[in-house]
Amino acid sequence: MFYLLFVLFAIVLSSPSDALSTKMTKNLKVLVSSNDYPESGLEVLKEHFTVLQSRYLHFGKEGEDSKEELLNLIPGCSALVWSSHYPISKELLDKAGPQLKVVATVSAGYNHANVPELKARGIKLSNTPNVLSSAVAEIAVALILGAARRFTENLAQVRSGQWEIGFTKTLGQDIRGSTVGIIGLGGIGQATVKRLSGFEVGKFVYTGHREKPEAKALNAEFTSLDNLLAQSDFIVLAVPLTNETHHMINATTLGKMKKNAIVINVGRGDVVDQDALYDALKNNQIYAAGLDVVTPEPLPKDHKLLSLPNVFVLPHIGSATLRTRSDMAVLAAENVVNALTGKPLLTPVLP
Ligand SMILES: *[C@@H]1O[C@H](CO)[C@@H](O)[C@H](O)[C@H]1NC(C)=O
Ligand SMILES: *[C@@H]1O[C@H](CO)[C@@H](O)[C@H](O)[C@H]1NC(C)=O
Repeated sequence: MFYLLFVLFAIVLSSPSDALSTKMTKNLKVLVSSNDYPESGLEVLKEHFTVLQSRYLHFGKEGEDSKEELLNLIPGCSALVWSSHYPISKELLDKAGPQLKVVATVSAGYNHANVPELKARGIKLSNTPNVLSSAVAEIAVALILGAARRFTENLAQVRSGQWEIGFTKTLGQDIRGSTVGIIGLGGIGQATVKRLSGFEVGKFVYTGHREKPEAKALNAEFTSLDNLLAQSDFIVLAVPLTNETHHMINATTLGKMKKNAIVINVGRGDVVDQDALYDALKNNQIYAAGLDVVTPEPLPKDHKLLSLPNVFVLPHIGSATLRTRSDMAVLAAENVVNALTGKPLLTPVLP
């Protein structure tokens, strides 16, 4: 019996345990870009690596010190965890040295990650899709409600004490019976349709590169961009920012929308030509817009968009819940662990 226990014990000790592989990776340095990266992600990283972290929130955005901090810390690092929305500069990658194997963004979008430079250097890139889809979709629904029911004007009435009380004052629009058009039926687009399915929507349509197998179960019909623009009462932008989606909502596409159309953006600010959107809203060519993403962020408080009563803006809070931000941090950390222990990335952009 004792012998058996001893043998079992010996097997446990000699197996290639986490403890052993951890010992081998502890000398690898991982750099975290910001001082507010969640503790849950740090725990995963610290278990395996030596973790360095900026004392600042945003690279290069709090003066030279915040820039120098990362430039000084990055030489010799094997991984970079990027939890800021600001761009990763070529200069920073130049400073890193050839041992930099992976960049892990703590975001679904990676337009700020300098993909061409990473690709050229053979550096892997991961992002954190999926874990944030439900939280962002909840904000898409909030924007739909906020824009359709004129929250900007109604909140101003509450704040000023000047309520316009009357049977036909400040009337909004119904979701019930409407056509909802989703541009980009990825994880966020799908989660938005699921969340709206209790609202008695008349019809869901979507557009994108190709038909999605998931669309059938969601009762969403594939159509061209032009058809979607022509028939939708709500147009939800749930696409990443790429060369192709840059300003895809512009004077031309706005001109194809219905007069009561409401544009919702949870993708990236630059998917919309904001000057064209301003004109369309100002002239009541469309009904309203609900935006969680704008250009620039923060939007200056005297920006012309904010002078309009029919725009409802949130400060890019799509994924900003305790649980979702923590899940994103852990996923980014696990991508780093995989990349530095010879395993495939969980959510690769550049595998
Ligand atoms: C996007 O456009 C920029 C500038 O026009 C170009 O340098 C870049 O290669 C393009 N990227 C892709 C992925 O096509
Ligand atoms: C507007 O967007 C559409 C769709 O993405 C595009 O085909 C068109 O070239 C754009 N027009 C302008 C003026 O940018």
